[in-house]
Amino acid sequence: MEHLLNPVVKDIEISGIRKIADKIKNYNDVVSLTIGEPDFKTPDFIKEAGRQAITDNYTFYAPTAGLYETRVAATEFMKRRYKLNYNPMSEVIVTNGSTESIFMALKTMLLPGDEVLIPTPAYPGYAPVIDMCYGKLVPIDTTQSDFKLTKEQIEAHLTEKTKVLILTYPSNPTGATMNRTELEELVQVLKDKDIFVISDELYSELTFDEEHASIASFPEMRNKTVVINGLSKSHAMTGWRIGLMYAPSYVTEQMLKTHQYLNTSVNTIAQAAAVTALEKGDEAVQLMKEEYKKRRDLLSEGLITLGFEIVIPKGTFYAFPSVEPFGVNAMTFTESILKKAKVGLLPSDVFTEGGKNHLRISFAADEQKIQEALNRLESHVRVGMFLR
Ligand SMILES: Cc1ncc(COP(=O)(O)O)c(C=O)c1O
Repeated sequence: MEHLLNPVVKDIEISGIRKIADKIKNYNDVVSLTIGEPDFKTPDFIKEAGRQAITDNYTFYAPTAGLYETRVAATEFMKRRYKLNYNPMSEVIVTNGSTESIFMALKTMLLPGDEVLIPTPAYPGYAPVIDMCYGKLVPIDTTQSDFKLTKEQIEAHLTEKTKVLILTYPSNPTGATMNRTELEELVQVLKDKDIFVISDELYSELTFDEEHASIASFPEMRNKTVVINGLSKSHAMTGWRIGLMYAPSYVTEQMLKTHQYLNTSVNTIAQAAAVTALEKGDEAVQLMKEEYKKRRDLLSEGLITLGFEIVIPKGTFYAFPSVEPFGVNAMTFTESILKKAKVGLLPSDVFTEGGKNHLRISFAADEQKIQEALNRLESHVRVGMFLR
């Protein structure tokens, strides 16, 4: 019977990140900087709100779009933090992590053969969904523009089939951000085109040097942009599975159908805790961000001293240095460094069109761990003598 299963689904590979994490498990005493989630625990006052929700019997189905109070908190949050206005009644959906938002958005938009532009290297959570929707991924290589998308790059990849552009800034895996002026350039090309933008802004709270800017804040773009956000990274709440999706009502109306038949609604206890996170979490987020910034500086400086080439990450908790100065490819580098130095790093190959020359190094790890990884790397990495 296996031959009867959908070949598109069968062809989807399990995540390369997972495969490498499994390899790392075979070694003892590894300092692993591969992790894609905060090392911080969920702040206590948010956990308490979750406990209280159980006591208060938040144990029933929520409305499909989410508890009303969660939707209000979600829209107030966007207004307060990014000056974006959405109607809590019709323009926001609470989703099962932003993973579900990505699926819902693409499922609602794509017809077979529709093209989806993605600046690459990219988060590997988009390509399999595009495949499952029978769409076509069109990668746009941004390695020559400091991982930022440019107007010219978009223009060079537009066809009659282009339906969606996915933007991920701040970027996993590169840590690049795009400020308002840079986004404005993109708006010049996009404003007159019938192309949706899915703007995955999951790391919006974690920008170190400049304020986060959303492409939806341009009036010309608001009506064709879906903003994806959530609490996983900013509030250290990956396990709670709270995603927040903001879009004009003609889009949310259709998306609600995919959400309904996939989930009915999201866990009400987590939604209740999310209200507290959104209303009272700014200070906790700020403290975590300050920690990430210190770690970013420690890691970036250490890597430069060791001879890596790096575009300093301006957001997220990932650095994306090039291994080109060492004359080996990323896979060889990570395998060798795992065996010899017991440091776990991800080769860029595991990201969509990530190329073979970069590493993703997570700094969602404390300074001591980062310093230990740098020390171990130092004893094994020397420009020009890497593999001796
Ligand atoms: C850019 C990006 N989008 C979406 C996700 C999915 O996160 P979640 O479903 O926990 O919100 C991740 C997780 O790593 C991510 O890095």
